[in-house]
Amino acid sequence: MDLQSLVEVAQQTGTLPHFPTQHFIDGHWCASADGSEMDSWDPGTGKVFLRFSAGGAAEVDAAVDAARRALNGPWSRLKPPDRASLLRAVAQGLRTHAHRLAVAETLDSGKRLVESLGDVRGAAACFEYYAGACDKFHGDAIPLGPDYLAYTVHEPVGVTAHVIPWNYPLSTAARGIAPALAAGCTVVAKPAEQTPLTALLLAEIIHAVEIPAGVVNVVTGTGSSAGASLVGHPGVDHVTFTGSVATGVNVMHNAADQTTRLLLELGGKSPLMVLADADLDRAVAGVMDGIFENAGQICSAASRLVIDRRIHAAFIDRLTEKTRALTLGHGLRNAGMGPVNSAPHLQKIAGFLERARSRGAHIRCGGHSTSDPQTGLGWFFEPTIVDDLRADDELVQEEIFGPVLAVQIFDDLEQGLDLANGTRFGLVAGIYTRDFSNAHRLAQRIDAGQVYINEYFAGGIALPFGGNKRSGFGREKGMEALRSYSKLKGVAARL
Ligand code: NAI
Ligand code: MG
Repeated sequence: MDLQSLVEVAQQTGTLPHFPTQHFIDGHWCASADGSEMDSWDPGTGKVFLRFSAGGAAEVDAAVDAARRALNGPWSRLKPPDRASLLRAVAQGLRTHAHRLAVAETLDSGKRLVESLGDVRGAAACFEYYAGACDKFHGDAIPLGPDYLAYTVHEPVGVTAHVIPWNYPLSTAARGIAPALAAGCTVVAKPAEQTPLTALLLAEIIHAVEIPAGVVNVVTGTGSSAGASLVGHPGVDHVTFTGSVATGVNVMHNAADQTTRLLLELGGKSPLMVLADADLDRAVAGVMDGIFENAGQICSAASRLVIDRRIHAAFIDRLTEKTRALTLGHGLRNAGMGPVNSAPHLQKIAGFLERARSRGAHIRCGGHSTSDPQTGLGWFFEPTIVDDLRADDELVQEEIFGPVLAVQIFDDLEQGLDLANGTRFGLVAGIYTRDFSNAHRLAQRIDAGQVYINEYFAGGIALPFGGNKRSGFGREKGMEALRSYSKLKGVAARL
């Protein structure tokens, strides 16, 4: 079906026919052993649109066993170019089913359809990138002198667990699963309970292209049951976790007993610095995308604008005007901004703004919960700018994970840099300036895993990504991700 027809069906019926709703374990679809199920909501209407299996220890056991058998079985015997062909077929499958996947992602997460389509394209690009990497990731020969032969090999780390958040369900699944498979690992994925659907649709594609049974398994359910069972499972060799700091710390404790390897991506409070000599059109566009894309629910959102006092007033006026002009609406209608993912999350965002209001914060626009203006339904928050905040304000220090921009003003570059680095997070940073030297000096001194100069979110699958400080550790994307999913062995021989 073409995109428009799918959208019409989804708008009329609230869903699409034939969505998968069960776990995908060892190449089969199965319900939970105890029959448990749970609901997923469409954030744009606040209504349930899907009932799916809620797994726990029994399903995780079965999935980890299947992944172990596959690791030691057919998967380990495939030559790298044959693994590459399978990953390429997944990319093709994602493209073939892009419209259905995008509508599913919008229904489940709330995001605008154009963004969902971009996420599907990105997931396909990710599988294609790592298909190309399968036979190009190799060790070194180490010179020990004429009497020795020494070399390193990258071995797959083993069974990998992927705990996936609700803000980028398909993208985050792809950016973990594709490099894990390219490195020769097998996978058990646990999507967020708010957004299980696209991981299951990805499993359908993986099944259809005949990746051997057990290589990729998807167990759906809550974090406290399926998630905790998975990250503490003795059969798991590596955990990739993306989510909150609190849960990440919990996962670390849980993985410690088994000395399981970890990659943690725990969000941020990323600064976008605008210097006085910046191209202001570009900078305004960068801030708008950086904080209002996906209604601000992005780990790497530009949630803090750190700006030179000399341009501050005029810049904020322009930004406020553009922000006020943003329309809200159900993701399928592609308004300027969609809903946030859940009712509790909406309450959490609203709580931040209520406290800010009672402190007398300069709220330039927005600041309230609202609904889809066409239907009166759904979980929406007005796009919000809070001006001239102190460095210790909670709007500056805490991840809100919503469409709320915190503005900080600096008088000189050193102070600006202190403000930029002045949180416990260190995921990404943006710098807007025409001064090449200042841009790169700041890029050196900003404590972040990625720095964007004059285009926020520049990069893509080839550029390594990950956090410093409380934003986590380990790197995803790029060839670097393959290192996360492999263990290095050194071999030395006396000749
Ligand atoms: P969360 O960190 O609790 O959930 C993320 C994933 O972890 C989900 O799949 C969940 O089922 C799973 N999980 C939860 N508890 C677990 C446990 N004990 N063991 C293993 N897995 C577990 O995040 P939540 O509650 O959905 O959102 C809270 C806040 O976290 C957000 O407001 C936002 O600030 C932040 N967040 C950051 C993300 C990022 O991209 N870094 C993504 C999602 C949330
Ligand atoms: Mg949902």
